[in-house]
Amino acid sequence: MFDELLKKSIANMMNGESVDDNDSVAMHKKTVEDVDFMGIEDSGQTVEDQVEILISAMNVEEKVRMLGGYKALGIHGIPRLGLPAIWCSDATSGLRCFPDGTAFPAGIAMAAAWNPVLIEQVGAAIGEEFRAKGVSIILGPGVNIYRVPTCGRNFEYMGEDPHLAGKTAAAYIRGAQASGVITTIKHFACNNSDYDRHKTDSVVDERTLREIYLPAFKMAVQEGRSKGLMTSYNPVNGIYASENRHLITEILRDEWGFDGFVLSDWNSLYSTNGPIKNGLDLEMPNGKWLNMDTIQPLLESGKIEEKDLDNILRRLLGTLFKFGVYDRPQIDTTAQFYCPEHLALAEQAALESIVLLKNERNLLPLTTDKVKNIVVMGRTAQDTPTGGGGSSYVLTENNVDILSAMGMYGTDFHLEHVPYRNHRLTAGEKVQITGADAVVLCVGFQHYEETECFDRTWKLSKKQDVLIRKVSALNPNTIVVLSTGGGVETESWIHDVPAVLHSFFLGETAGTAIAKIIFGKANPSGKLPFTMAKRWDDFASIANYVDNPGAFSFVRVAYGQGNPEKRKVWKMQYNEGLNIGYRHFDNAKIKPQFAFGHGLSYTEFEFSDASAAKTEDGITEITCTLTNTGSRTGAEVVQLYIHDVVSSLYRPEKELKGYQKVFLQVGESQQITFVIKEHDLQYFDPAENGWGAESGEFEARIGTSSRNIRAILKFQYS
Ligand code: BGC
Repeated sequence: MFDELLKKSIANMMNGESVDDNDSVAMHKKTVEDVDFMGIEDSGQTVEDQVEILISAMNVEEKVRMLGGYKALGIHGIPRLGLPAIWCSDATSGLRCFPDGTAFPAGIAMAAAWNPVLIEQVGAAIGEEFRAKGVSIILGPGVNIYRVPTCGRNFEYMGEDPHLAGKTAAAYIRGAQASGVITTIKHFACNNSDYDRHKTDSVVDERTLREIYLPAFKMAVQEGRSKGLMTSYNPVNGIYASENRHLITEILRDEWGFDGFVLSDWNSLYSTNGPIKNGLDLEMPNGKWLNMDTIQPLLESGKIEEKDLDNILRRLLGTLFKFGVYDRPQIDTTAQFYCPEHLALAEQAALESIVLLKNERNLLPLTTDKVKNIVVMGRTAQDTPTGGGGSSYVLTENNVDILSAMGMYGTDFHLEHVPYRNHRLTAGEKVQITGADAVVLCVGFQHYEETECFDRTWKLSKKQDVLIRKVSALNPNTIVVLSTGGGVETESWIHDVPAVLHSFFLGETAGTAIAKIIFGKANPSGKLPFTMAKRWDDFASIANYVDNPGAFSFVRVAYGQGNPEKRKVWKMQYNEGLNIGYRHFDNAKIKPQFAFGHGLSYTEFEFSDASAAKTEDGITEITCTLTNTGSRTGAEVVQLYIHDVVSSLYRPEKELKGYQKVFLQVGESQQITFVIKEHDLQYFDPAENGWGAESGEFEARIGTSSRNIRAILKFQYS
């Protein structure tokens, strides 16, 4: 109970409730006053020249002040030079604190939609809401890989597969930046647990880093062209991310060609010299390590030169200038904020994210020919979570819960509500449940249980698993709706229920989207962006994690942050290497509860005419035809996995390298083409410190999940 109170107050603090409008982590209800628009005269100078002129006009104090955040969520302005303050805000699911905008689905749900076109629109709408309130930088999206199912921030990220996470993030970034807002892809790198995020050193070998943990960032930078990047709290291989030269200079800038700025996560610097010399540009939320008192002595001793500061400013101000941030009023009065179009898009994204995990006897959708009396119950029926907790939580007042939405869309049915207290049922409730034709049982975590700052339990909290077993024993038509940011323990109840929907955290239209799917007003088309296991230790990563992730500790959350002297850093060894998610389940031949990429539909699809061909340029093209052979309009995600038949180094059995979401009317067919590029065949060779593909035979495996492969096509690479 005490833990729960603490968790709630931490989550609320991170959400910005009851916090003064000062330099604290979370601020709320800020307003940007657009008084200091500078507007750059068209003087014929290049942007680079303008930046040089500005830097040369700045004195050392002004330069140093620029390196630390302003009022927790801003970049300092220089009134003397007409430079306005620039604002940033969380996060991937929408604008918060300026005030909060439309609450879109969480990052994990965006990945579950497997639809970059849609996510680009979502990014554009969120970007527009930022512009409407004068906020020029989005603190997101987050793409850290789902390494363990209990990571408190999995919900904010985009799943276990680097390709899916990278494509989803790149699409989001394209949309948001096209709306005039800079994205800061985060948290670079290896923040794969929030159990003790300030004190866990992620120890990862170079190949695993390159093949699993970095590709999504690379795609965000190279395909999405993100102009910002945020470092993580944790050290990586012994060096704090905020001063990790290998990550933020050698790989990010020198190899990938990143031309934006790097900011720190909030309170994650541990020295002054390290970040300045190794590639960081901005300390957030303020200049605790980067200020005149700390920098002056280093300048005097020659450890830092003024030209180091100028280089940083070239990257920081240069990016803002090039993006046009200074050359416009901060508030775009024409941009839409919290409008019907954005709500409709949020709902569409929610609908496309929902994954139908199981549907025996075609129980779903509920139609009047099948059922008349429905009981709606469970912890999340009325208190439907819209997001996980922490800095990404968008607080809206118009959330639609599952119960209300079922009332709206289920007018043809007799609905009864069994209010939630705990896992116990009264005699009267048992009669109600037994007497219903179907029960919709809503379970999940609240935002103070699944949140930034700590990890969560593998089992559903509050004995909700016990409740599921009790209800399913009373009614064989029990449909479980899961609202969690990732996978949970299901083996103890899944075999007792005929139908399960995974709804993640879907934003403010969660209830509407879920009700529409339940009543068949929409056809589910989401696919799991992670593997759901039967057993906790089916994941290889668990052996290199902690024994009891859900054990909450206030000390871990709050004590010694930012101070390496208080509580020592400890190592989290990523010994499982490449064996993350389906890569491990394939390799170890473990049957998952639900495979990566799995998701059912109310219609059926058939594959035909799968073939591989070489173009004149020697490129392999894979084609196949998909037909909707069922009785409803629907969408299927065709997934392309590559298998290297013979390799001198260990390679995962198969890896996702392409996917297409195809919408088909009843009876309609569509031909799909995948072009296989050289980098789809490559692995990172640590001996060569580079990427390469070995010539020989490969297989293109096409399917509707990582475990439902419908066609295998062999091809040669030379
Ligand atoms: C989170 C970041 C977030 C920042 C600002 C930190 O606690 O880790 O993801 O952007 O707060 O709210």
